[in-house]
Amino acid sequence: DSPFTVVCSGREFAVEPGVSILETLRAGGLDVPSSCEEGICGTCETGVLAGEPDHRDFLLTEEEKAANQSMMLCVSRSRTPRLVLDL
Ligand code: FES
Repeated sequence: DSPFTVVCSGREFAVEPGVSILETLRAGGLDVPSSCEEGICGTCETGVLAGEPDHRDFLLTEEEKAANQSMMLCVSRSRTPRLVLDL
């Protein structure tokens, strides 16, 4: 995994390899809902405004993944250096 930057809530967060977006945002003080944290429940689904997610969940269909409109923050990462989230 490569590091990447998540932009949301007017801030930038550096997501390091081995650390999820969810964990990174929480460590930065954001309150992000979650439940399974394994990519199966959908609780952490968040809108994507820019960038291309590396989807690793088991919930979105292939069409939904290709649409780049939302992602699961607990397991998915980024294919682009920056990912802008609707959060
Ligand atoms: Fe269940 Fe992310 S917390 S899909």
